[in-house]
Order: sequence, then structure tokens, then C-alpha cells
Amino acid sequence: MLPPIPLLADYGISPTHGFLPDTLPLTRLPDPYYNKWEAIAANLQALILSKRLRGVVDRLPVLSTIGLEHDAEWRRAYSLLTFMAHGYIWGGDSPSDRLPPSIAVPLLEVSRHLEVPPVATYASLCLWNFKPLFIDEDIDNLENLATLNTFTGAIDESWFYLVSVAMEARGGPIISLMLSAIAAARENDAVTVTRCLHGFAERLDDITTLLVRMHESCNPTVFYHRIRPFLAGSKNMADAGLPNGVVYEDGSGNEPFRQYAGGSNAQSSLIQFFDVVLGIQHRPTGEKRHPGVESERQGHAPPPKHNFIMEMRRYMPGPHARFLSDVQAVANIRDFVESHRSNRPLCLAYDACLSMLSALRDKHIAIVTRYIVLPSREVRARSRSRSPEATRRKVNLATASRQPQGIAYDAHAAASKPDGHNKQSNLKGTGGTALISFLKQARDETGEPAIEQWAQRFMSRQIRTEGQGDFFAGKEENGAPVHTEEVEVKGLAGTWTIDDEVGGICNY
Ligand code: HEM
Repeated sequence: MLPPIPLLADYGISPTHGFLPDTLPLTRLPDPYYNKWEAIAANLQALILSKRLRGVVDRLPVLSTIGLEHDAEWRRAYSLLTFMAHGYIWGGDSPSDRLPPSIAVPLLEVSRHLEVPPVATYASLCLWNFKPLFIDEDIDNLENLATLNTFTGAIDESWFYLVSVAMEARGGPIISLMLSAIAAARENDAVTVTRCLHGFAERLDDITTLLVRMHESCNPTVFYHRIRPFLAGSKNMADAGLPNGVVYEDGSGNEPFRQYAGGSNAQSSLIQFFDVVLGIQHRPTGEKRHPGVESERQGHAPPPKHNFIMEMRRYMPGPHARFLSDVQAVANIRDFVESHRSNRPLCLAYDACLSMLSALRDKHIAIVTRYIVLPSREVRARSRSRSPEATRRKVNLATASRQPQGIAYDAHAAASKPDGHNKQSNLKGTGGTALISFLKQARDETGEPAIEQWAQRFMSRQIRTEGQGDFFAGKEENGAPVHTEEVEVKGLAGTWTIDDEVGGICNY
């Protein structure tokens, strides 16, 4: 007996808008009891700018969640509280390692109710933080979207969130389309599977077009220095001024330091759905493809393993993460295509989807290079030429990445050296991971299940000649690259190392 194909309604997923809520996010909580939260959110940028947010929050009473009725209200409360929490933690000259009860108590309750971690996530920043400008127009159009909450008030920040919202909306219909493809594969209906794959590929192309529009209105310097520091979590944040994490003062008497990853688009369930439904396997970071991989493909899609991409599921709303596991249990498209190798249109349609998704990841790598890798190098270069006093005035994520410490992407690996000697060279590979290598690995894995050999070759091609000197990497002297040092760089949810020898937008 095959497991049933998941029904979207059981997971709160919209047939038209996917992981975006069917009911539009509320622009304010209806119960006036919550006016104090709304007033803080409405003035968040000014309160952060004037450094008065902490004082205001410290004087705020602990509000009960009893007045929250519908899911949309709980989601609005979660979004408000995470903006306040991150504003509180990161909105000073140095971060606060405590969250006062006025935020901690309701945030913990709301998070439990919604099955999300009590920290800013993709859900609180993007999925539940937008409104259409014109109610009768679609929300997959960037020209019809606005944000509800921001830390900075900058259009760059709004744009950063809204590009994701538009991508989610445009990609939403792919979910039911591909569930139909799974049902059709069960019926051995290759024509329908091919048709669904065509629709998928076309929408993937649209989504990539939306992604590259990031460059239009989100400036990399603003992103790196003004926006990203507020998205930071509390995990691996020693350099940014949070050595232990954050204490949530919930009045329980048992208030340990907590550590959470920061808000990242890696928490998008949509992109993970694409991987799952196409049978793409993401290995733990740094792990190479092994020869027995084909045998793993017998039956269904491979079982989940622990890795960064899997870890990000813990930051998705619970029902969305459960949906991904349930789809994983029924994903049959790759096997179906494999068993119909002689059906050229089917194989081409499947490979086209992989190719489109791989292209999307290519564009994303270029974005990460421009928005994180290059600015972090600039900061580092500047800090080398300045006195420590001049550079240490403000402590946050933007200033932290200048420290040339190699640390693994998460706390498990970071804790691996009890003597505190994190030798740079030990950190690459299984334990610690380079940001761009991680993203390239995810991109390369996207092409691996391709059916046609030319498609496999095409997607595994090395775009860059390794070790080649270029404008960004520096010229080689006596055959050796000029810069080979590893630099710690904070991503969004992860902490990574980057090689000084690689990089440059044109190289990926
Ligand atoms: C300025 C724009 C962006 C920057 C700077 C950026 C940065 C990053 C970084 C640093 C990572 C590594 C994981 C981490 O540290 O969090 C990552 C991963 C990821 N990002 Fe982005 N990102 C951007 C936009 C987007 C958008 C719009 C999406 C689409 C929803 C997206 C989807 C992903 C996904 C799915 C991953 C996981 C890796 C993969 O599956 O290939 N990113 N991003």
C-alpha cells in the first residue's frame, strides 16, 4: 500500500500561493489590548535609530496571548515580536544577551503555538510580513508588494524580503502541479507527468528572473552593513558580541542561554520542495558523491540526513517542515523518469527542471558573492589599515566578519577544539565549511540526478578554472595564489569560512 499523497489543506499550504498564507498577513492586531506592541512596531526604526528601543521594551508590560484568536493574529504577533526581539538584541552599540520578559514570555508562547523557533525566521520576515498594494492584483508581482515591518525603513530591506515573497507566490502553484505529477506517475501516465514538468520548468525560469531583480533595489553595502546585522541569530555569534547566546527571561527561574540561527532564505520550504519532488539529494556539507549513490535511488527519494539544508527545516513552520517529509515519502518522479528512459520528451522535461534549478542556484551564488563575500573582504581590508580602537566602536555582525577566525558553520563543529586552537587548515571539509563551497555543492547536487548524459555533463561543468588568477582573486606569483587565507564570514543562518583565493561575481 503506497502512502497517501499529502493534501495541502492539512498543512496550511495554499494551492495558489504555496507557503504564503491563504489569508493575507494582518496589518495590525485587531484587539486594542495589543496597541503597545503595534506602537513599538510602527516606530521601530526611529526607536532603533535613537537607541531608545531597549528602554521602551524594558518598561513594556508582559502582555498575555489570550487575545490572539485566528492564525493570522498569531502570525502577526510572531512577526512583531521577532522584529522587536532582534531590534532589542542588535539595536545598540553592543548586543544584548538577554531578552526581557515583555518580549520573551509572549514570544515563547506564540512560537510554541505556531511551531516555529522564538527567533526571526524566513516566516516572520518574509512569508508573514507583506501586503499587496492593490488587493485585486497578484502578489507574484514585485510592483504590487509592500512590507509590513522593517528594522531600518530602507527600501533595500523591503526589497530584500519582497523578492522572496514574489518568488514564493510565483512558485506556489508548482506545489499542486507536482503533487498531480506524483499521482500521474502512480497511474503510469507519462503524458501528464511530462506536462507537469513543463509547467514546473517554466515557473522556475520566472522565479530566477525574480531572484536577479534583487540587484535592482537592494544595495549590497546597505544589505551588509545595515540590514544583515539585524537578521543575525544567537548561534556562533561570539565575534559579534554574543559568546553564549541569549537568555530569554521568562520568569521560570530556569533561564539558560539559548542559541538560534539567524533568519535566512535557506529556510524557504519552496526551494526544498523543489529538491524533494525532483529527487535531488543534498549530502552533508563537504561530503562527495559516492559510487553506490544509484542504489540509494531504489524505491523512493533518499532519506533525509543531517546537514545544513536539513537543519534549516527546524526553522520552518512545523506544518511546512512536516509537509516536506511527507512529500519525501511519496516522491517518485525521478524513479518514474528513470524507468521510462526511452521516453525522450519526459526525460528532457525532467532534465530541464534540474537545469533551471541549477541555474537559479548559480544566480544565487553570484548574489551571495556580491552581497556578503565581497563586502566582508572590504571590511577586512579596511580593518587591517585601522587601529583596533577605531574599528571596535560598534560590535555586531557586520564588524564581526573581519576576524580571521575559521569556525565551522554551526556550534557543534565550533565546539570541536577544547583548547581554543581553531587552526584554519583544519576547518575546511567535514566539520567546517566554506560558504561558497557549500552553495556550489548544493548547485552541483542539483544536476546529479539528470537522466541524459549531456545534461549531467552540462550541469557538472566547471565554470571557473580553479586557481586561475583574476581581478578579484589577485595575480599569482611564482605559481602560488597571492591570498590563500581563510576568513570567517557570517552568512545569514550559518557561519562559514571563505577562501580569499576564490571569489568574484564573474567566476561562479
Ligand atoms: C541579498 C540576497 C541574498 C543573500 C545575501 C543570501 C545569502 C545566503 C547565504 C549566506 C546562504 C548560506 C546559508 C546561510 O548562511 O544562511 C544562503 C542560502 C540559501 N539561500 Fe540565499 N541569499 C539571498 C537571497 C535569497 C533568496 C531571494 C532566496 C529564495 C527564496 C534564497 C534562497 C536560499 C536557499 C534555498 C539557500 C540554501 C542553499 C541552497 O539551497 O542552495 N536566497 N543564502
